[in-house]
Amino acid sequence: MPQYQIAHSPRLSGEVSVSTAKNAVLPILAAALLTPEEVIIHRVPDLTDVKHMEHILRSCGAETRRQGTDIRVRAQAVGSPRDMEEMRVLRASVLVLGPLMGRTGECLFSMPGGCAIGQRPIDLHLKGLQKLGARVEMDGGQVRVSGTLKSANVYLDFPSVGATENLIMAAVLCPGVTRIENAAKEPEILDLCRFLSQMGARIAGAGTANITVEGVETLHGAEYTPIPDRIEAGTLACAAALTEGSVLLAGARSDHMRALLFKLTESGLLCQEDARGLRLRGRARHPMEARTLSYPGFPTDMQAPLMVVATQTHGLSVFLETIFENRYMHVVELKRLGAQIRVEGQLALIQGGRPLNGAAVTATDLRAAAALMLAGLVAQGETRLSDPAGHLMRGYEHLEEKLRALGADTKKLAD
Ligand code: UD1
Repeated sequence: MPQYQIAHSPRLSGEVSVSTAKNAVLPILAAALLTPEEVIIHRVPDLTDVKHMEHILRSCGAETRRQGTDIRVRAQAVGSPRDMEEMRVLRASVLVLGPLMGRTGECLFSMPGGCAIGQRPIDLHLKGLQKLGARVEMDGGQVRVSGTLKSANVYLDFPSVGATENLIMAAVLCPGVTRIENAAKEPEILDLCRFLSQMGARIAGAGTANITVEGVETLHGAEYTPIPDRIEAGTLACAAALTEGSVLLAGARSDHMRALLFKLTESGLLCQEDARGLRLRGRARHPMEARTLSYPGFPTDMQAPLMVVATQTHGLSVFLETIFENRYMHVVELKRLGAQIRVEGQLALIQGGRPLNGAAVTATDLRAAAALMLAGLVAQGETRLSDPAGHLMRGYEHLEEKLRALGADTKKLAD
């Protein structure tokens, strides 16, 4: 079981390179199923979620090969994933649905799993595909989606990231013009569309709420380097804000991080972008209000790390989680360290300025795991973070090593 020891750390200083975004890489790998030609993805992060996705692609009939930080995918003949168990492990495994429908007109799969941060249904994915002419049948946890797709106008009741990605991937090989309204606007959607365009897809409006896809007959191979990870960069920015650090996040895209950077600068952190990335100096001092929203609003994936920062500012911070219904699981663990937080439904009230004290804590989900590691940096004494489900390695490339390289007193105790 992965375990980390974190001691009260000095001011973080130095430079660290931001990894490629997990949430961009996973849909892009799934999109490789759309062509029989070879696709090469560069600078792929070393994460278990990526390994799971490689496994799922292989179980759909594709060949995948890692060479250094490149992944090559060749999907000559593809079909429904054979390994249903793997589908249950990774929520993003549902992203093979759109490409398989586009390419073969059929996909039989297990309901996806992932972090226990909420119900995470896939009704919007299925409703959108039904609008494109697919038939959906459910049978004891398995779903069969089938039929020849035809273009249509799809309205998403909520701008779901995964549903938007799946519908775009289903539509790129579908004859005619498909319009997706109330689409998600996350940078990872734009990145997926850039990659698909390199494969020969015709997509307009990516990054806005109205996306238009003009179907083409075939897609070809492509080479691509996805965007840097705005959530990893944001988490490291929170670490700097907590320790009064002076840190350069090399390669960070501040234009993808506006909502978080506004919160941190309003609270007192100095942020400056230059050609190398994002420079952060000082610390967060003032309490804050944060309401999680779809992009460009404040990201739910940054709620837990920013809450740790709020525990160290003077005054009352107010957080509202509107995206996932069970995303305050880190609060119980932060309380073990002495944080004063009260949760009322979607609302969390954080009474900042109280010192944290090291204790044994458990990672409850991916972003909670990172938040608890940050809390350990400012807690007096030693914090022991157990991560039985390996959440940190799922979604953060070498976070503990990166913090250590900046001067944090952290150690990985066991794998
Ligand atoms: C993606 C991100 C995840 C991030 C989330 C929200 C990836 C691999 N993961 O997850 O890190 O936290 O966006 O920014 O990119 N919903 C439905 N029905 C559906 C689909 C979603 O009700 O069919 C609900 C979900 O339960 C949730 C909300 O919509 O409450 C947002 O989900 P969605 O945007 O789909 O998130 P993911 O794509 O799963």
